[in-house]
Amino acid sequence: MDAAARYVAAMADRGPLDIRWDLAPLRHKRHPSAEWVEPRHPLGALLRGMLGITRVIWRHTDAGPMAIPGRPAPSGGGLYPIEAYVGGPDGLFHYDPVHEVLEVLRTGDHGPARICLTAVFWRSMFKYGDYAYRLICQEIGVLRTQAEVVAATLGMTVTFGDADDSPLGLDESRESPLAVLHVEPYERVCPPEPARPPREARPLPLPFPPGAARDLHQAADTTPRTRRPAQGVRAGTVDLRDGLHARHSPVGGFRPAPVPLADIVATAGLADCPDLDLYLLALRVDGLPSAAYRYDGDLRRVHAAPLESLGSGPLIANTREALTTAAAVIVPVGDPLAGTARDHRDQLIETGASLQRATLAAAALGLTSRIHSDGACEATDRVLGLPGPARSLSSLLVGVPRSRGPDLVLRFPDAREGGPKARPEHPDQ
Ligand SMILES: Cc1cc2nc3c(=O)[nH]c(=O)nc-3n(C[C@H](O)[C@H](O)[C@H](O)COP(=O)(O)O)c2cc1C
Repeated sequence: MDAAARYVAAMADRGPLDIRWDLAPLRHKRHPSAEWVEPRHPLGALLRGMLGITRVIWRHTDAGPMAIPGRPAPSGGGLYPIEAYVGGPDGLFHYDPVHEVLEVLRTGDHGPARICLTAVFWRSMFKYGDYAYRLICQEIGVLRTQAEVVAATLGMTVTFGDADDSPLGLDESRESPLAVLHVEPYERVCPPEPARPPREARPLPLPFPPGAARDLHQAADTTPRTRRPAQGVRAGTVDLRDGLHARHSPVGGFRPAPVPLADIVATAGLADCPDLDLYLLALRVDGLPSAAYRYDGDLRRVHAAPLESLGSGPLIANTREALTTAAAVIVPVGDPLAGTARDHRDQLIETGASLQRATLAAAALGLTSRIHSDGACEATDRVLGLPGPARSLSSLLVGVPRSRGPDLVLRFPDAREGGPKARPEHPDQ
């Protein structure tokens, strides 16, 4: 069995979470002694639109009110394991999303302008164990779509590609590059020379523990891909830029109201891409009987296990609850073992990219959505009547937002005007 097959088998049989709160890492990376430079426009706006802290969510819980910092794109468990570095002709920088600055790591020519996306594995693994790797790779895809759509609002182009060999000075047992976004235009900054290489804040995240996920990661880095990821997605009827501002994942499900068929078709159309098959569970769609459908430009009903048998799967409580009010579930499908470990990782990235297009399409249409990873399970596969080795790869619940939910979301305006930011004198470690 190769690394992807072992990983898929281990994830199908993964058991309950064993969360290591005692070893929880820092929520984001910082280099407290680094010099700061402000990213120039439009790069700064792109980074903020991908990873900035742009919202605060006031949530009322049994333990009292809670304020949670929110970011523009979804992240598994809200753990944000992806970091961004900027390499360019003027230096190498790390993006600090809290202060919205670039930390100067090195000066000098670091090649053509690009954003390198890395994963701090432990930031997600302390909670999800090996399953985190699947979420991390999907999140790279989420950020790919997010970057492409934000760039379109800024007149920028971003081109997604493989992580290159340029050294970022990382301890790759903890954090490793997964993808690169080439960006244009790029305006140089004049970074001050660091007196000594800036050190990462302590405590360091734990190294990537040995196991099926680490084996998959190593195999994906070293085996060639056999399937070139297909380029291009069907042109949609919705402008995804319109979804950027409103997007957030509802916590308490949806208003149990039907959604117009045209909106569901438009959302599914944007999730569709040549590398994945797309399925849809219609639960509350005007003019569409509640059933499972395959989407290939048209919706084709599949006759398989009844929708009610979804409940026999190992769904977690919030998914079960959200299913009672959702209008539809979008399910990307593929054979996770059709190629090499590298192809498997590409497929996870593509899944995330597809879900984020549907997410932004739903938000642009005044709907809302949430990824429920546990919806990818055998019970769902039976309801979809999936043939042969094809499997559900994730699930996106879509519905009508509640008019008054338990959350109040305050969005921060872009604070670029207001002069340069001063680094605190005694930065916390
Ligand atoms: C790859 C991925 C997997 C996710 N899986 C789940 C999930 O299984 N269950 C769930 O409730 N939310 C899931 N989410 C949604 C996140 O919990 C949510 O994005 C996060 O809490 C941040 O909230 P926001 O999307 O409102 O910004 C997932 C998000 C991503 C990107």
